[in-house]
Amino acid sequence: MIDAHDPFEHLHDEAFEAPFMKPRLTAEDAIFMPGRETRSLNGDWCFTIDPMREGLRQRWFANDDQPVEAWLIPRDYDNGAWQTVPVPGCWTMQRDEWRHYEGAAWYSRSFDADPRQDGSRLLLRVGAANERARVFLNGAFCGLHLGGSTPFFADLTPHLRAGGNRLMIEVDNTRRADAVPMNHFDWFNHGGLHRDVELVQVPAVCITRLFLRLTESGIAVDVALSAGTDGTAQLDILGLGQADIPVRAGQGTAVVDWSPELWSPRTPRLYDVAVRFGADHVTDRVGFRRIERNGTEVILNGRPLALRGLCVHEDDRDTGRCTSEPDIRQRFADLRALGANVARLSHYPHHEMVARIADEEGMLLWEEIPVYWAIAFDNEQTYENARNQLFELIHRDANRASVILWGVGNENADTEARLAFMRGLAQAARAEDPSRLIAAACLINRATFRIEDRLTEHLDVIGLNEYFGWYETGFEGLERLLANSTPDRPVVISETGAEAATGLHGPESQLFTEERQALVLTRQVEIAASARYVAGVFVWLLYDFRSDRRQTAHQRGWNRKGVIAEDKTTRKLGFDALTRAYAQHFKDKE
Ligand code: GCU
Repeated sequence: MIDAHDPFEHLHDEAFEAPFMKPRLTAEDAIFMPGRETRSLNGDWCFTIDPMREGLRQRWFANDDQPVEAWLIPRDYDNGAWQTVPVPGCWTMQRDEWRHYEGAAWYSRSFDADPRQDGSRLLLRVGAANERARVFLNGAFCGLHLGGSTPFFADLTPHLRAGGNRLMIEVDNTRRADAVPMNHFDWFNHGGLHRDVELVQVPAVCITRLFLRLTESGIAVDVALSAGTDGTAQLDILGLGQADIPVRAGQGTAVVDWSPELWSPRTPRLYDVAVRFGADHVTDRVGFRRIERNGTEVILNGRPLALRGLCVHEDDRDTGRCTSEPDIRQRFADLRALGANVARLSHYPHHEMVARIADEEGMLLWEEIPVYWAIAFDNEQTYENARNQLFELIHRDANRASVILWGVGNENADTEARLAFMRGLAQAARAEDPSRLIAAACLINRATFRIEDRLTEHLDVIGLNEYFGWYETGFEGLERLLANSTPDRPVVISETGAEAATGLHGPESQLFTEERQALVLTRQVEIAASARYVAGVFVWLLYDFRSDRRQTAHQRGWNRKGVIAEDKTTRKLGFDALTRAYAQHFKDKE
């Protein structure tokens, strides 16, 4: 019988991605993770780059595990067993020849887990994969996740097989005009499975969301389940008590009249929380505080808060997007040495350890999604992608007291499409989490030369990015702008700074000298503090970071606005200047 199969058919199918665009893996597939036992899949994975997208074209994921000696027709992929990379990792940092590789790549490994009959589920959790990922198990497509900085889950249960499972993940860091972020941004486009990958087993009905927050009438508790089940969840907070949370159709909410010791930067008090529903049990360590605004003030636990901040990228000279507990604790130590009490985690969700350690150490955080510059604001799918990343971030960090601000965008031109898109995000964030303040980093209204942007009425805190003293000469413009503006809510300078090549010294008038950076930071903080409605400053930024947009002799592929060099050790004159400025301005109000 003539084989009707045409071995060359895949060469003519440019719609090769179409069968693998759905199901989408979204916030709806997430479960509540803290306190769960997991099985780590970190370690060496087989790996290959796939610039021509042969993996989907030739369906590499459908290959069986036969050795090449047993093949009857040739293949172009043998599960990549000939080379491995460590996971978590960025391929862009793992080999020089992959530094600037932008495209698809395939990770592959096997693991043992038998099919289950008891209704329990085995989920794959990926901490983050930049920028999009497709999961395949034993040849079956489990789903596509968009977004390079938020966790996602794939239900492997239906595809498990006895005797060993082959897991393959296609990761694609191609920049796209309709993605979030879009294809133009000022940081390095690292690719890879850059956070933990693990398996988690859950009972048939499990806790998917747990959100606790302090309200005027006590501690509000929201519990959500994976099924529309009725019942009672048991809440236990050590030192406060126990309470039953009635659950109807998979949703439970209650306010428990307890008065916890408040969490604050000075007293980062955390409580051990446990919640049980049926066979499921989760725990968390939660701080209770209230963050509000009143007029042009930000209010923490009923008292005005001065924000002495810096922005931070998740970028490391040696590991790219990968971070570690020591790296994070060093970051907070540097921030405290500067006198800072808040960090803006630019421009995308950072590792979940950051907020957890910030809770312990009393560092406040602004977290944001990468709705950055010229996003495809008129594209509905782009909006859904942004909203999903926002919800994945909110669900992941909802119980982190350190997080006081959700940022919905950065430096976006004020157009009708952008207004609709970001108003939607601000409203969605507030509805999903009424306990925090919503912000965005906006631009100066050049027509009126005021802090004025149609988005601001939908924000709690107006972020303003301005670079007087660097991208615009002199500081008079900043003085005029602040004098011209009459915002009715708090403003923070969400970015300002100047580049300094470490070790380059000269007159303050000379760009890229350390002296120039020191002058800019000193004057910026001084002038910002003179405006009653400015609640704080986020200096751009803590460490130099990689950016291919920066190609002068002083930059060589690095953005040099850090007050510390990319070695995360060498402090520039700007470090001391900013420390002095924060010692004089935006001091904590007693
Ligand atoms: C912008 C942008 C940053 C960028 C910075 C700079 O404000 O938000 O992402 O790195 O300016 O020019 O250094």
